[in-house]
Amino acid sequence: MVNRRDFIKKGCIACMGLTGIATLLEACSAPLQVVKLGNTPDNTLVVPADKFTEQTKMLVLRSDHLDNDILLVKNNASYNALLLMCTHEGYALTPTDSKIFCNAHGSQFDLEGNVIKEPALKPLTRYKTALINNNITVYLNKKV
Ligand code: FES
Repeated sequence: MVNRRDFIKKGCIACMGLTGIATLLEACSAPLQVVKLGNTPDNTLVVPADKFTEQTKMLVLRSDHLDNDILLVKNNASYNALLLMCTHEGYALTPTDSKIFCNAHGSQFDLEGNVIKEPALKPLTRYKTALINNNITVYLNKKV
């Protein structure tokens, strides 16, 4: 026979397991499109604006010259460029279409780089962007 204490203990363990599975599934949504780029001498990344479509609102920018990817998010007429490196202890982050996850210790960030779940306390590094001649330029030496 299960006593009240055992019932509550098992219920709590089951809830924690379900929460962990839900978070894991959320972090495993469809992969985002990766754009491989070279690095220009003036420390910028240039992405054709037509890479964004009605369905594609985010791109992962990857370069051999960068230690971490950059998530480029279209937000109406502007773009957010976020360094996918956790501000807790520097691990690489996993972006999804709704959040950015750190699998090291569980931090989560929104698509503007703000912390929505600790242990990270600082927002993600954001870089200045500009739309020039139908190209999006990410300025790696200009943080916002
Ligand atoms: S390194 Fe990301 S939560 Fe610790």
